[in-house]
Amino acid sequence: MKTPLDRPEILAWLRESDSNRLAELWQAADQTRQRHVGGEVHLRGLIELSNYCVRLCGYCGLRAPNRQLERYRMTEEEVIECARKAVQFGYGTVVLQSGEDPGLTCDGVEKLIRRIKAETPLAVTLSLGERDDDELAAWRAAGADRYLLRFETSNRRLYEAIHPPRNGKTSDRPAILRKLRELGYEVGSGIMIGIPGQTYDDLADDLERFAELDLDMIGVGPYLVHPETPLANPENCLSIPEEEQVPPTELMTYKVLALTRLQCPRANIPATTALATLNIARGRELGLERGANIVMPNLTPSKYRMMYEIYPAKACVRETAEQCHACLAGRIASIGRQVGAGRGDSRNFERRMEK
Ligand code: 5AD
Ligand code: FES
Repeated sequence: MKTPLDRPEILAWLRESDSNRLAELWQAADQTRQRHVGGEVHLRGLIELSNYCVRLCGYCGLRAPNRQLERYRMTEEEVIECARKAVQFGYGTVVLQSGEDPGLTCDGVEKLIRRIKAETPLAVTLSLGERDDDELAAWRAAGADRYLLRFETSNRRLYEAIHPPRNGKTSDRPAILRKLRELGYEVGSGIMIGIPGQTYDDLADDLERFAELDLDMIGVGPYLVHPETPLANPENCLSIPEEEQVPPTELMTYKVLALTRLQCPRANIPATTALATLNIARGRELGLERGANIVMPNLTPSKYRMMYEIYPAKACVRETAEQCHACLAGRIASIGRQVGAGRGDSRNFERRMEK
């Protein structure tokens, strides 16, 4: 299969239903993954720092108006304790993720980054939402290595419908992604698959956008309905012809994963928790065999996990950090792959730096 794919090919794969043909797509993605990023699976320890959020995203359970959710913010010591566990478990990276929480101040986060960098050899990835340029700069200066901010969909009308402005502030994630790159971060983005109102054409645009943005990391996962959010009500969704709507299914997620790998051969691509939520038995393994090379074991303390409910029935909420660690190590071994050593920087980023 020649890559990158052109648009008619992308669209044809997104609509493909023949399992023999799809087997070719899985194989092409798996070979491309092997050739460009190898057989190692890198582990990123996920620390869900805070579930406070000031924003109103139409799909996310952490949205500010959701009063059903008990809110928490981890202490510095709790975070450092998680980072120590990451080192014990042999992870090369921790991901500090939260809602968009002004209670996580610029100085507070900076201090966390400095401590993790001083006390451990870990790479630090931030996933803290849309923050100001000066904060992103301060955190980079403090030693943060990577930043994740999904653009969710490249369809502007759909994006705006599901991301209402807050205090007159509209969100411009493409501008933030450019800023992150300029600051020297390894840059990650991604989308949800099957958002109500998302068409096949939109999804093809997203896949083209991944390559244009020259992303170092790309996370894709199925959209999952959260009952306490506006999108759970069809009246709040963009209406499009039924045959145009992308289904939020496991199969569609594998197609997008595989096509993402073909579009961006050197990117780090995780088999996501949302995918594991659709198929707890084999989702992550199949993701790793259809383009992915990263998994993100959860390190969040048990007492907080249930409260980080961006969507319901999330995988791993009842497990401990130790259980997720053992579980994923076993799953990776079961498909004949190895856990990656070291930080596992994106090959795309390394190449960009060599130029
Ligand atoms: N279903 C699936 N993914 C979701 N996210 C947020 N809410 C949902 C949901 N209901 C994803 C978004 C966000 C990431 C952290 O989680 O893509 O960027
Ligand atoms: Fe958490 Fe398998 S990764 S239980």
